[in-house]
Amino acid sequence: MITTELRTATLKELVTQNFQTAAVFEKYSLDFCCRGGKTIDEACREKNIDILTVLEDLSRLENMNPSAAGTFTAMEPDVLCNHIVETHHAYVTKMIPVLYAHTQKVAAVHGANHPEVIAIAKHFETVAIELQQHMKKEEQILFPFIKALYAAVRKNEPIIHAPFGTVQNPIRMMEAEHQNAGDEMFEIRSLSNNYAPPADGCTTFRITYQELQDFERDLHEHVHLENNILFPAAVRLEQAMISKN
Ligand SMILES: [Fe+2]
Ligand SMILES: [Fe+2]
Repeated sequence: MITTELRTATLKELVTQNFQTAAVFEKYSLDFCCRGGKTIDEACREKNIDILTVLEDLSRLENMNPSAAGTFTAMEPDVLCNHIVETHHAYVTKMIPVLYAHTQKVAAVHGANHPEVIAIAKHFETVAIELQQHMKKEEQILFPFIKALYAAVRKNEPIIHAPFGTVQNPIRMMEAEHQNAGDEMFEIRSLSNNYAPPADGCTTFRITYQELQDFERDLHEHVHLENNILFPAAVRLEQAMISKN
């Protein structure tokens, strides 16, 4: 892709086309999942980042094997729902008790000298509670509906009537919740100075920051798969079903 095309492409378009670009956007803290509708140019200007450095990193990806790039976009919606639950929901469920214990411990031990860790523990508690409720809604309501929509469209069956009206209603709610979770993690990132532990931080302190950073990275991939791939696919399925009936 030539540089002018890269400059005017949105972050979500680039990550959807080639997931390897996500690592570059993570490196520069460019949000490709919740606020991925911005072009690289806009996002870099907002964050005062030299766009040429980002474009240089992206151009290096062109020489890499893009085989993984289309994996998610090529997935059928039901397979993608299962992948999200088995990979990302399972990871969040496994890490919440671990990170809750670690953030609380670091706050108790280091809170006097580093008051930011008390705020970090509170933010993590908030995001943990919100994500647990959020994933339950996806697993119990939205994802089963998307799977049913997909099955009905494939079999040419009549319109499915959902209690929530159009699928765009729960999608809007999920997107707003993604934004909240992303904002909470952004606060944690800022408070921790980009997950840099202080010189006097103990092993638990360092491990906690690393785990928080991994948690945020996983959340970005998770939200990208939903906001940029699964949800638009669900809207297209619903429109296809309506136009057939
Ligand atoms: Fe999810
Ligand atoms: Fe979600």
